[in-house]
Amino acid sequence: MDVQFSIFETKEKKVSSAKVVNVASVPQRSPFRYPGGKTWLIPVVRKWLKQSNSKKKLIEPFAGGGIVSLTAAFENLANRIEMIELDEEIAAVWEIIINGDHEWLANKIYSFDLTSQNANTILQKEEKTLQEKAFSTILKNRIYHGGIITKGSGLLKNGENGKGIKSRWYPKTLRDRIIAIGYVKNKLEFVMGDAFKEMGKSKNDKESYFFIDPPYTVAGKRLYTHFEIDHDKLFSLTSTLKGKFMLTYDDTREIRNLAEKYDLDFRTIPMKTTHHIQKNEIIISDNFDWWS
Ligand SMILES: C[S@@+](CC[C@H](N)C(=O)[O-])C[C@H]1O[C@@H](n2cnc3c(N)ncnc32)[C@H](O)[C@@H]1O
Repeated sequence: MDVQFSIFETKEKKVSSAKVVNVASVPQRSPFRYPGGKTWLIPVVRKWLKQSNSKKKLIEPFAGGGIVSLTAAFENLANRIEMIELDEEIAAVWEIIINGDHEWLANKIYSFDLTSQNANTILQKEEKTLQEKAFSTILKNRIYHGGIITKGSGLLKNGENGKGIKSRWYPKTLRDRIIAIGYVKNKLEFVMGDAFKEMGKSKNDKESYFFIDPPYTVAGKRLYTHFEIDHDKLFSLTSTLKGKFMLTYDDTREIRNLAEKYDLDFRTIPMKTTHHIQKNEIIISDNFDWWS
């Protein structure tokens, strides 16, 4: 098992002076509750994207809940934004919101009468259209424990009067977030596919900014359907990018070794997990002129 570094074991120059980031300063823009989501890192991502005023394309190859792409779109931090995701249920949501009829999804959520029976009818339907798949994904993400939508997870316990499944169902908020994304979707592009393949296509593009947040650790296995990637290959590909990049991982010996192997510089930053455990995240980047 990988050992977690304590902040005192890191080399002095690599240690961030940053306090644990104040997440309250980051608007929630995503329709997803995303395990391992990067909302907490947004203040750092803003700095990274502001390192130059030139035109830029942001590429988020492991999009998940997409908070980085959405923030960049709303805050004008990039001119064009490409999101990539392999998971077909998550991809269905982005397909509908970005490439399809986002208002349909917004209204479907708003008008849905959430009862266990109605939810099960949606979730158990076998042949789903893309729209139905998108709605079913949002539903699962809101009513399954911890927002986890992989096969092993189950319905939230159905409390009195079905209140259990309603505890994370905020139809108006979700509708409003989706409608808001509709206003910036002309800057967004969504591709359902493989991060490696899509990154490869843009690897010589100097104006691209890659925000790379791959699935990692044992937790990844429980959280994501697609949790297995070749980390060595990802470091190798990242080290050949002509554009700017920011690659994020848990701070472990394995990841530090890979950074060293590919001669990539890194910094660490403290964060609190959803279970309030403080740990370090590692940020690997082509340069740290933007970091202070
Ligand atoms: C750590 S999560 C990203 C979380 C995201 N940064 C956020 O804030 O919501 C990693 C995501 O990568 C996706 N994924 C895994 N393998 C992939 C691949 N080969 N290509 C594209 N996406 C992949 C997973 O489905 C998961 O949604």
